[in-house]
Amino acid sequence: MMSSVATPPSATTQFIRPARSLRGSLMLPGDKSISHRYAMLAGFAAGTSRLTNFSTGADPHSSLACMEAMGAKVSVDGKTVVVTGTGGSLTQPKDGLDCGNSGSTMRMMAGLVAAQPGTFRFTGDESLTVRPMERIRGPLQQMGARIELTDGHAPMTVLGGPLTAIDFETPIASAQVKTAVLFAGLQASGTTSLSESVRTRDHSAHALRAFGATIDREDGRLKIAGGQRLHAIDATVPGDISSAAFFLCAALLFEDSNLVLDALGMNPTRAALLDVITAMGGTIKVLDVTEQHGEMVGTIQVNRGRSLRGIDIAGQLSAQLIDELPVLAAIAPYTEDGISIRDARELRVKESDRIALVVKNLRAMGAQVTEHEDGMEIPGGQTLHGGVIDSGLDHRIAMAFSIAALRAEGETEIHGAEAASISFPEFFTWLDELAVR
Ligand code: S3P
Repeated sequence: MMSSVATPPSATTQFIRPARSLRGSLMLPGDKSISHRYAMLAGFAAGTSRLTNFSTGADPHSSLACMEAMGAKVSVDGKTVVVTGTGGSLTQPKDGLDCGNSGSTMRMMAGLVAAQPGTFRFTGDESLTVRPMERIRGPLQQMGARIELTDGHAPMTVLGGPLTAIDFETPIASAQVKTAVLFAGLQASGTTSLSESVRTRDHSAHALRAFGATIDREDGRLKIAGGQRLHAIDATVPGDISSAAFFLCAALLFEDSNLVLDALGMNPTRAALLDVITAMGGTIKVLDVTEQHGEMVGTIQVNRGRSLRGIDIAGQLSAQLIDELPVLAAIAPYTEDGISIRDARELRVKESDRIALVVKNLRAMGAQVTEHEDGMEIPGGQTLHGGVIDSGLDHRIAMAFSIAALRAEGETEIHGAEAASISFPEFFTWLDELAVR
């Protein structure tokens, strides 16, 4: 279990007042997961890629900066990013590759550099430095790379070199590990194949195909031949459904909410939340759907029915909702019959120990909650009061409890609120605009 970073006294505090409803329409900034993959593959491909609606979060910009440090040319103009790639040969960076708070950058990029001649030293902030990296070392070392870790964590040094394809079964449900293996497999000799016990987000397969790679799915296994070249693309990043989750859950808290989300990423491996919202009594109207580079993108309208039911989340569903669990837990006390979350041990090794922090912050607002090693039980029908929230400098904790605060009695203080900018810098401004008071 990892400990959380204590919110420092210099942190920014946001004060959230209760609301009466949530109404409005918006287009979310680009999906964080897809932006990371486009940043890395554009930097690796030959030619100049133009990426619009790129994530405004700090994390994907860490990926861009790392690719720049390895020879890609990057220019950023608001949400438009132009990347001239290295044509498949990365240069050894002069200094370390600073991944900031981003586990995705460190894990997925390790796969990209594993086949490149040179020494690549990855560093990160205090939270990233305690996150597990063994999970990528295993397969990448099997393929022939050498990876040095510090007690299983960053700082991490990848000594790249020629790789050989492997057949890999992912022992934990992790799209980052899957991506590291695919990025290394792209450059290995032979065909790498991979199967997962739980199907995680499939953005890497779509992105690799968009950039020109052939990647097959046969009998539930992904197969990628080595030695493939990538070409540049023009792409628009779909809106981030994990950022939308905060407003979607907020909309469930009030009977007369009305929320329209335009150009939202609705990839089926990411959209489990939409089914959960429906199961809890929300109504979702899909107003329009298209496909862009293999990704489903649509416009949806969300309202809440008369009641807000609870739900049991376990097994595969926990893995598919992994980034949305903090906000679902934060609204759980307001449901009729509560929410149970199990099989979500991975939450303990995210940007913070998200089980411990959710439990602590729910209690700070007066909620009853039972903590389990792999989840929590939150009874419904509770009344919460405003409280002092410790974000642990974890973006999803800061935002999740801002949503819980909308239905509490009294004002809530979110300490370490600036963490929201890791994925969603606009969050507090937009919340203020959508909340009807
Ligand atoms: C991500 C995968 C998930 C998720 C993270 C982004 C990705 O992590 O929690 O926010 O973009 O592949 P794991 O692969 O560790 O489950």
